[in-house]
Amino acid sequence: MKISIENVSKFYKKNSPALRDISLEINQGMFGLLGPNGAGKTTLMRIIATIIQPTEGVVKIGNYRTDNLKEKWHILASLGYLPQELSLYGNLTPYEFLDFMGAIKGFRKRPNQIKELLEMVGLSNAAHQLIKTFSGGMKRRLGIAQALINNPSLLIVDEPTVGLDPEERTRFRNMLVDMASDRTVILSSHIVEDIAQTCYHVAILHQGKLLYKGTVSGLVQQANNKVWEYTSSNTHTPLHSSILVAKTRISDSNIKYRVLAEEQPMEGAYLVSPTIEDGYLWIIKKN
Ligand SMILES: Nc1ncnc2c1ncn2[C@@H]1O[C@H](COP(=O)(O)OP(=O)(O)O)[C@@H](O)[C@H]1O
Ligand SMILES: [Mg+2]
Repeated sequence: MKISIENVSKFYKKNSPALRDISLEINQGMFGLLGPNGAGKTTLMRIIATIIQPTEGVVKIGNYRTDNLKEKWHILASLGYLPQELSLYGNLTPYEFLDFMGAIKGFRKRPNQIKELLEMVGLSNAAHQLIKTFSGGMKRRLGIAQALINNPSLLIVDEPTVGLDPEERTRFRNMLVDMASDRTVILSSHIVEDIAQTCYHVAILHQGKLLYKGTVSGLVQQANNKVWEYTSSNTHTPLHSSILVAKTRISDSNIKYRVLAEEQPMEGAYLVSPTIEDGYLWIIKKN
């Protein structure tokens, strides 16, 4: 499933666009949408999911346009969406919840199909437990099961790792990667590691602007020859305010800085290899 986003802007209010002239192509596999809070990630995902319309521009999902009411139904038939805030029904079991969601979506599920969905997201053992007793990770996995009811070829997942502990976060990410083997999965996050661990392609949004589109390894390269380390024996070294400090490591006797700068930021600083985190910071800093 190919998605084309062409010159999309979204104004909730005049003069402050949530998205500014975004053009982007998304193909099969995992695609990461990375950006800080307020960047416009949810807005873009809601536009792709046909929940809201862009103020300007066109979005095509496969052969269908999201602004064409007749074509919208074709899109919805092949779309799964896990919103940032999904309400689950605490007094239902996941089995009952999926049966109910299937009915709402017009996909009446046979019992064995619901079992299959629960198995896919690793909730078979909890099929008849009340949802209100679930951990955050279990709830998020049930959210994915709900999004998979119509076996969609496009799965949109908005900040699903928020609030998960490291083990559940990893498990959830691996599950998405599995699901992307024969689908397009769009994953948004404000956490670089979520995207780095799962995606080959990534777009960076910041204040409604598209600052980067390309591969994750290309993002790392953005910070090539810009990352410096420096060890100071004086733990109170004042740093110039134009220097972006990516990391500091403090010990009893010294302080080690990792900074991003176009030129050597202080005497004794030496260049080191960038990480994806550095690439992200550098792109955000430049703009
Ligand atoms: N329904 C809305 N009405 C008005 N402004 C909104 C609405 N939804 C989002 N915004 C604004 O649009 C911008 C982008 O928000 P959002 O798409 O939620 O970003 P993100 O998901 O990256 O945090 C923010 O400034 C936000 O306040
Ligand atoms: Mg959001």
